[in-house]
Amino acid sequence: MIDGALPYLRCPVCGQPLARTGDQALRCRQGHSFDIARQGYVNLTAGRSPHPGDSAEMIADRAAFLAEGHYSFIADALADTVRPDDGLVLDAGTGTGDYLARVLQARPDAPGLGIDVSKPALRRAARAHPRAGAALADVWRPLPLADASVSVLLNVFAPRNGPEFHRILRPSGVLLVVTPAPDHLRELVTTYGLIGVDPAKPERVAETLGRSWRVEGTATHRRTLHLTAARTRTLIGMTPSARHVSWGDLRAAEIAVTAAVDLTVYRPA
Ligand SMILES: C[S@@+](CC[C@H](N)C(=O)[O-])C[C@H]1O[C@@H](n2cnc3c(N)ncnc32)[C@H](O)[C@@H]1O
Repeated sequence: MIDGALPYLRCPVCGQPLARTGDQALRCRQGHSFDIARQGYVNLTAGRSPHPGDSAEMIADRAAFLAEGHYSFIADALADTVRPDDGLVLDAGTGTGDYLARVLQARPDAPGLGIDVSKPALRRAARAHPRAGAALADVWRPLPLADASVSVLLNVFAPRNGPEFHRILRPSGVLLVVTPAPDHLRELVTTYGLIGVDPAKPERVAETLGRSWRVEGTATHRRTLHLTAARTRTLIGMTPSARHVSWGDLRAAEIAVTAAVDLTVYRPA
């Protein structure tokens, strides 16, 4: 439901607050109106169509993989990092909304909002948790949120916009960024030629966020996943490498795969 996040949303055209007009739209005082899709997400792009984001196939593979709990250690790490308060949790590049849902479980009074450019992702994110809303919005553009409105900002394997994240985060808020560690999925990189992780990534993340952030700490979380050929295929399918892999090469036997991520906690400086 979008209602919990509504007080924090702003019109992408004029920046005014938004209110519901019936079930199917949000509107600002200037009369700009934004449809709520039948599947529950609101389109806050103001008519500028962003690129389509992850495809329906990628999102279906991601949903299947996450539902089996292979990455629940990442969701748990995020949930363990947030303190319970009732401020808005925003997940930028939310995908299926699974991580947002897990963090909302750890914050029993907080509303949540997932934003993404992928409509197949938003259809799932809108149903991820009773307190989570979902909005079509491009991370690279001004975000449809009020200044200092977000308490916890999640950014998991997704693009980030340092200046906008800084504007919408409360001074006491926290930005949690999850990026692949250098050995993430290394067995798949070696065996199937998956696109590898750039070892300079953590520095690049800090660079792209800009100077107005203070790193509170980084923790690496690592698991060995034991994957059947079918699950390996699902995992590859949810990555941009899916297009480059020849499925005929997939091994029939179970494979042990390293999943390793860096979770970095940023505070506005
Ligand atoms: C690798 S997926 C990660 C999804 C989710 N955070 C997770 O880890 O399960 C990246 C997500 O970012 C979205 N995305 C890509 N570019 C975006 C943009 N400019 N604005 C908002 N979302 C974007 C994609 O559609 C996709 O859902």
